[in-house]
Amino acid sequence: MKNQFEAVPLKSLDEWEDDLLRRYPDPEAIATAKSTEEYRNYDEPQRDSVKEFYRLNHTYQTYDFVLEKEADFLKFDKKVMPVWSAFDFLNQLVDDSDPDTDLDQFQHLLQTSEAIRRDGHPDWMVMVGLIHDMGKVLCLFGEPQWAVVGDTFPVGCAYSDKIVYPEFFVNNPDFTNPKYNTKYGVYAPNCGLRNVHMSWGHDEYVYHMAKDTMPEQGLYMLRYHSFYSQHRENAYDHLMDDHDREMFKWVKLFNPYDLYSKNPTPPNWTELKPYYQELVAKYLPATLKF
Ligand SMILES: [Fe+2]
Ligand SMILES: [Fe+2]
Repeated sequence: MKNQFEAVPLKSLDEWEDDLLRRYPDPEAIATAKSTEEYRNYDEPQRDSVKEFYRLNHTYQTYDFVLEKEADFLKFDKKVMPVWSAFDFLNQLVDDSDPDTDLDQFQHLLQTSEAIRRDGHPDWMVMVGLIHDMGKVLCLFGEPQWAVVGDTFPVGCAYSDKIVYPEFFVNNPDFTNPKYNTKYGVYAPNCGLRNVHMSWGHDEYVYHMAKDTMPEQGLYMLRYHSFYSQHRENAYDHLMDDHDREMFKWVKLFNPYDLYSKNPTPPNWTELKPYYQELVAKYLPATLKF
């Protein structure tokens, strides 16, 4: 952790997601109550905090930083919780200072999973919708926002200029380190993403939480859902193998549900509860380790 101010550049974690909608405003086939115009409506103060957020993210997400976080959090020795308490725990992230966010974290998960279910996708994909942001609990373990959310990208090789605010990478020590600043860096051409370390955040964390219980297509959705410079900009094809390319069709299928399913009307949880209790029991153990 750097200092207290640098830990929370955003008023709420949702500011990052709202900014994604400014960058990628096309809702594709997903119908919601909000129009694309409303999604585009951003005031400047919020843009500034998102910019500051990315300055910190790009400055501090180094190869060594990522290895250190992986070694620490992938031990899963922080907390043990019944699976439904974990959703309540995640909801402690609700933020009153953002007027646009009257819906808590759980509502976003439920709206994502319900949009997936409405379109008739398999139940494991509904499950992906329900847990894809579970890794944001990292914030509750005192992690700074820039190590929990934000677009993810490979570390250990040159940063693509297709990543949002690429100019901030000049502040990152890896930017001038010849070990890490070439096209392939520490990796071999088309080595496959399973050999690539991604910037640390909620995606990698939740992937490891689910990796023994979910089908592989779902694991790709969890692990790479914030990897916009690939699933939207195709900037890292040189690190991917054919299997990744096949699996990224699924990552792309998931993305619109994450971005465009937000709706001011909360789903009816009392009605939905029995379905989700069964679904969660099918794919997750009764208690989760964090
Ligand atoms: Fe996410
Ligand atoms: Fe999300």
